[in-house]
Amino acid sequence: MLILGIESSCDETGAALMEDGRYLLSNVVASQIEIHNRYGGVVPEVASRQQLASIIPVVETAMEQAGRSWNEIDAIAATYGPGLAGSLLVGLTVGKALALAHNLPFIGVNHLEAHIYANWLRGSGDRPASAHNDWRYHEGDPAFPLICLIVSGAHSELVLVRDHGDYELLGCTRDDAAGEAFDKVARILGLGYPGGPAIQKAAQKAEEEMQQQHKAVSAARKAYRLPRAWLRGTYDFSFSGVKTAMLHLAEGATEQSVSAPVGAANKQISRYTRMGAQQGASDVSLLAASFQEAVVEVLAVKTRQAAQEYQVKQVVLAGGVAANLSLRTHLEQELAPLGVRLTYPPIEFCTDNAAMIASAAFFHLCRGERHELDLDVEPGLSL
Ligand code: KG4
Ligand code: ZN
Repeated sequence: MLILGIESSCDETGAALMEDGRYLLSNVVASQIEIHNRYGGVVPEVASRQQLASIIPVVETAMEQAGRSWNEIDAIAATYGPGLAGSLLVGLTVGKALALAHNLPFIGVNHLEAHIYANWLRGSGDRPASAHNDWRYHEGDPAFPLICLIVSGAHSELVLVRDHGDYELLGCTRDDAAGEAFDKVARILGLGYPGGPAIQKAAQKAEEEMQQQHKAVSAARKAYRLPRAWLRGTYDFSFSGVKTAMLHLAEGATEQSVSAPVGAANKQISRYTRMGAQQGASDVSLLAASFQEAVVEVLAVKTRQAAQEYQVKQVVLAGGVAANLSLRTHLEQELAPLGVRLTYPPIEFCTDNAAMIASAAFFHLCRGERHELDLDVEPGLSL
């Protein structure tokens, strides 16, 4: 089954052609990062205008690159939520219009579910000889039940996936998403947008500087002692505390110079102070390394706890923050002793793309589902 997927939930415009939910024929993504970089984050009005300008060329390029004609396509899929309403509308409307024009079934896709299915993607040449008509499982697919950690600019969700379409949301963020925290802290540190890659790079620099000075790389990660919100007894996350700590640090706040805020933050402020003996690396890179460590440690430990509780054999990553190398290393260290396998998509499929949309759509279509053309966008859609 050949599906054209369309993605436009935020600041990326994507179109992709996928076979049988796994095998990639083409994948085109037009990014607006350069534009939003100027503002330090995504400006919704600008994003939707750019979606409009990019969508038709992106779809045409995906069709050309796959070398397929419209009459070979079996269905069209587009994201209908969650995301920015104006951006979602562009891809959804184009998807529905193409389905109408070519008389094809249409399926609206939940962007979060699609992030999970990024773990099913592979090249069209990687089709195993054993893959015949069983849509549920092809050799090389992730194995159910599994835990998926979705960490993106808008989401931090821990999901138990029992089977295709059978999800249980174990926990989510109570405030900032992991990627959002990376973006905001990068802005505080003057590192630019998107923040995740910038912070990872600065942290790597701090670690390299430690090595050059013959110190343990972990010294960079421990340069500042930052708060971790464990929210014990739940699988929820919270990153606003560590973000606030970073704000105070960046403003040069110390125990002595700041009148501490009320409540619990009082106790934390006294712990923000710089740990001694890490002279050499720049403050910004040490701050970046300590921040990355604080976020990644909580994500890795809570994911491992979920894997243990639900006795899964596999953990998969999804969303833009899954590109973070420190997160991958931490998770591997947490999961290896349990014999739990960690897998994640190549970086280009961790961030927003349309291949994962077409993949998720395939599994819905195989269960006999499709949407009517009056389907509307749902900016607040959950899993
Ligand atoms: O999944 P995605 O492309 O968009 C959303 O659906 O939100 O994720 C984008 C997010 C941004 O917040 C970006 O800073 C973060 O993913 N990100 C990273 C890394 N690469 C991208 N965060 C940490 N480390 C990275 N290497
Ligand atoms: Zn996303």
